Amino acid sequence: MVDGDGFMSDETLHVGIIMDGNGRWATRRGLPRLKGHSQGAEAVQAVVEAAPEIGISHLTLFAFSTENWKRSASEVSGLMTLFKRYITAKADRLIAENVRVRFIGGQDRMEPKLLELMGWLEAETRDNGGLNLTIAMNYGGRDELIRAVQKLSARVQIGELKPSEISEKTLSNYMDTAEIPNPDLIIRTSGEQRISNFMPWQSAYAELAFTETLWPDFTDKELRSIVTSFMGRDRRFGAVAAQ
Ligand code: FPP
Repeated sequence: MVDGDGFMSDETLHVGIIMDGNGRWATRRGLPRLKGHSQGAEAVQAVVEAAPEIGISHLTLFAFSTENWKRSASEVSGLMTLFKRYITAKADRLIAENVRVRFIGGQDRMEPKLLELMGWLEAETRDNGGLNLTIAMNYGGRDELIRAVQKLSARVQIGELKPSEISEKTLSNYMDTAEIPNPDLIIRTSGEQRISNFMPWQSAYAELAFTETLWPDFTDKELRSIVTSFMGRDRRFGAVAAQ
């Protein structure tokens, strides 16, 4: 996180990325949309490898939203195949680079084989102390809130918790992101300026950055430049600026 003077005030810097524009990247080249997604997976790898050097301790990537199920069956199944391939093909490299991988999102509608690979990669990288990479898969912020509230209310129902004991901290502990800090900076590619249900609870004080670049064209160089300009911003968290 960065303090009001723009200097690193503690150990963590959490960047979230809404990777948008794969479809347009492909369409502009006369290619099938899935080609845009596979090119997007290459951009993922470049950004993951560069993140620690840029000072990012936590990187969260929005890979598949609860709304993305509305796409054509062939695009959805192509994406699921791509995710399975990515995990299988990149696991050794992620492990060698000391990356700790977590997945956030609901398990409903997900293919058992993909869930199995996700669980396996989380377990394989559990003790890694390098980049904390979180992949949001079948993720929607409202869905995450509902699941958290359901778990909390079950505890209230059996008398383990009083409604008055529920604080921001309690709710945070029931979110999929319980183990990771709130995002400091959220980047969205492709010129769209929306958050689209990406960590609405956690991003209350996040800085936002938007770039016209389509995700497959996004590079570590652009990431570095966005993070550098974010470092110069005055984050007051609702307080008055330091004199
Ligand atoms: C949004 O672009 C992108 C997605 C819904 C999929 C994101 C997936 C990847 C980048 C592939 C690999 C990811 C991992 C983690 C291995 P869009 O299709 O909505 O683009 P459009 O708005 O131009 O149609």
